[in-house]
Amino acid sequence: MDKSPNQNIYPITMNVNSRGHLEIGGCSVVELASKFGTPLYVIDEDTLRKGIRNYKTEFTSKYKESLVLYAAKSFICEAIAHILQEEGAGIDVVSGGELYVALKTGVSSSKIYFNGNNKSSEELALAVDNEIGAVIVDNFYELELLNQVAISKSKKINVMLRLAPGIECHTHEYIKTGQIDSKFGFDLSQVDEAVQKIAKLYHSLRLQGFHSHIGSQIFDLNSYSDLVRILLERYASIKETYNIDLTKLNVGGGLGIKYTEEDSPPAMSEMANTIVNAINENVERLGISSPTLLLEPGRSLTGPAGITLYRVGSSKVVPGIRKYIAVDGGMADNPRPAMYQSLYSACVASKMLEKNKEVVTVAGRFCESGDILIKDIELAQTVSGDILAVFSTGAYNYSMSSNYNMVPRPACVLVKDGSAEIIIERESYQHLISLNRVPTRLLKYKSIPAQ
Ligand code: LLP
Repeated sequence: MDKSPNQNIYPITMNVNSRGHLEIGGCSVVELASKFGTPLYVIDEDTLRKGIRNYKTEFTSKYKESLVLYAAKSFICEAIAHILQEEGAGIDVVSGGELYVALKTGVSSSKIYFNGNNKSSEELALAVDNEIGAVIVDNFYELELLNQVAISKSKKINVMLRLAPGIECHTHEYIKTGQIDSKFGFDLSQVDEAVQKIAKLYHSLRLQGFHSHIGSQIFDLNSYSDLVRILLERYASIKETYNIDLTKLNVGGGLGIKYTEEDSPPAMSEMANTIVNAINENVERLGISSPTLLLEPGRSLTGPAGITLYRVGSSKVVPGIRKYIAVDGGMADNPRPAMYQSLYSACVASKMLEKNKEVVTVAGRFCESGDILIKDIELAQTVSGDILAVFSTGAYNYSMSSNYNMVPRPACVLVKDGSAEIIIERESYQHLISLNRVPTRLLKYKSIPAQ
């Protein structure tokens, strides 16, 4: 059976050309590096599209009423939003900024869902004005605020409630979200009160169902069966107690991807089987009607579609301990190793056929000892100027990047069938200070006129 993209370290179009150079989307990455500079994010359009199609066919073939909402936080820009739209995917946004990109690129508002634990009234107003699919309300404060915003605009808005179902999943502490001690969502003991408040007080809100996101980089699908059971049991009790029909069920995102050979994430088809079986079993057992299923994958779509190209610069051998090779990017374009001890795979893109290997540690260029991209990796012998390709960097890299050390963010190119186009320009030094303002009183020593 064909693997789903999240089960490969490499983008699906990966190839090695006759010169021994790595190719993605029909483009030599060595040429991309010289044409667009480094560091460079490269997104393979075919891998991204294949992922969205896989999710769509796997879910809709088993459960007709289902909709894939791409989690924008993993990586969004206008070009990506256009691809989502062409593929018929919806979008899960978590800020006014992400919502703005989705609306600006014409993603149908009915397919936009808005998550987040502390949305502002301005952000909620943008959602209400555009009558998005639903606001996923996180807490009592937001219920009240959203109702006020909707009243002020004489609108009625669809809502789902985010619940923290008390599910522990096996992933990094910082990316777990479904457990009881979480900053996100209503505790299960608060659900009835929230439902009653909407029914009795908040007449501008229309409750459609519950949402839960149990965590990210998940390999064990049992957590999803538990989630579906816990949520649907609530649907049944809400129906019985208040005679309210909940028509949508949102199970969040979270499917893991393969960063290294040791990772073996389940296929999208296995995730679909688990979730759909759990829905069907519980719907039948509880005697409730089948809800529309929403899911919010991010990492599993963009992660494997992206690679980052760096140029190797200096190196340092600590005798008897290790050899460092330094690249021209690091923790500002990929903070994940420093934040979550994440592991990555890489290769020397111009030496794909070389046998001569050495174990090195890939260091970033930022002024922190912790700026290590990959510790102890076996690579072809590198010299300064070689291009290093790091894989599975499409998700949570650009979107979490910074200008630490006043380093401009890299460009991002989209590759397909041998062509490469910029989708995000490289920042310049001018960009870095474009929002700076200097109080006039500080300007007196400013410029010494050139003689
Ligand atoms: N839905 C909600 C409500 C979420 O909070 C998230 C991710 C997703 C969907 C998408 O999850 P995914 O399919 O991408 O796993 N920065 C971390 C990941 C944080 C994930 C936050 N929420 C990292 O780099 O690993």
